[in-house]
Formats: sequence, C-alpha cells, structure tokens
Amino acid sequence: MDVRALKEMAAEAALSYIQPGMVVGVGTGSTSNLFIDALGRAQIHVEGYVASSLATEARLKSLGLPVLDLNATGDIPVYIDGADEIDPHFRLIKGGGGALTREKIVASAARRFICIADNSKDKPALGSFPLPVEVIPFARSFVARQLVKLGGSPVLRKDVTTDNGNVILDVTGLDLTDPLAMEMRINSIPGVLDNGIFAQRRADVVLMGSESGLISRA
Ligand code: A5P
Repeated sequence: MDVRALKEMAAEAALSYIQPGMVVGVGTGSTSNLFIDALGRAQIHVEGYVASSLATEARLKSLGLPVLDLNATGDIPVYIDGADEIDPHFRLIKGGGGALTREKIVASAARRFICIADNSKDKPALGSFPLPVEVIPFARSFVARQLVKLGGSPVLRKDVTTDNGNVILDVTGLDLTDPLAMEMRINSIPGVLDNGIFAQRRADVVLMGSESGLISRA
C-alpha cells in the first residue's frame, strides 16, 4: 500500500466521528485534504466546517461544503487534523504545512481532537521532525538567537508567508523530552506567535493507517 492509501484509511475512519448538525473543525495538509474529499463524497448534513487555514477553506468551498467563521461559532464538538509526529501520549508536532497557529486555535476550541495519519508518524518520542515556529517578521533574528540559546538550530523556511503574514523557523536540535515545558518556553519568546508542539492541547484520539489495517487509539 502506498502512503496515500494509508492516509486515506485514517481519513475515511474519521468520518464516523461526524454527526449531522455538528460543527466540525478541519485541519490542513495532505491527510486533511483526503478527509475533506471524503466529506465531499459523504455529504453529511453538518451545520458547517471551521477551517484551520485559507487552503482548507478554499478546498471545502470548492466542494460546496459550508464554511463557518470561528468568531461566529460556539461549540465545536470535533476537530480532525493530521500531524508530523505523534508520541505515545498523543502529543504532536505539527506545522509541516505552516498552518500550526490556526490549527492549534481550532484544536483548542474543539472538545475532541481526532488526529489522522499514516503510521510513519507514530514515534516513541517527539523531536526528529524539525519544529516549526511561527514568528512575526520584525522579530525573526532576535527569535532565532533565542532559539539557539535553547539548543536549537533554526532555519528560515524559504518563500513562505503564513496565513497570518508571518515567517516560519524550522528548528532542529531542541531537547523535547518535556514537550509541554518546551512548548511554553518557546511561546514565551517575544515575537513568537506559536510553535508546532501540541502538548498543552494533545490529540484525544489517534487514527493511523497501516499495512495491517487501521490503528485506533484513544
Ligand atoms: C499543517 O501545517 C500541518 O500541521 C499538517 O497537519 C501536518 O504537517 C501533517 O501533514 P500531512 O497530512 O500532509 O502529512
């Protein structure tokens, strides 16, 4: 099976968490795109979808699926999104697609976060994927120096501006043995909007496609 088929397995399985009349948060990335395509086929009569990026909003709209403004939305029972790494405690690294800040906002606003992925994302610990950090452009060099002081090696992601008008630093070399502490530490640097560690807001359910079938953890 190719990776796409494994992602599709997880994306299809996430449909069972969607009930008619719900508001559903929708993530960003290739696995989330497959989930959006599955939503388009399933045509569940939800109240609407809250998108975690402009790209997701555009894809939902292209399939005629209703998009809601987070500021005009109350309860979000469920958020579905992919991840770059998933640890055994359901802590994640996200932001490979640069949408980490809005993803964390919608995930945090939702009651349940269902993470969908192929099982290459399943890791004993976080830290092999470079950590994306969204930074206000004015503060780029200052933040990079602070990240070096934390043990990291930041690299500016080329030709990328986030949906919020910011830049992304991809950071290797950080010690993520305490992901929550590092998430908070990085976010305390002035100029950082957010970073891709999802430890304060972890996933509640992990659905992973694998060669031997769907892995479902809760
Ligand atoms: C987007 O910014 C990311 O957080 C994605 O959710 C993450 O990179 C997973 O992407 P794929 O589903 O494309 O692997």
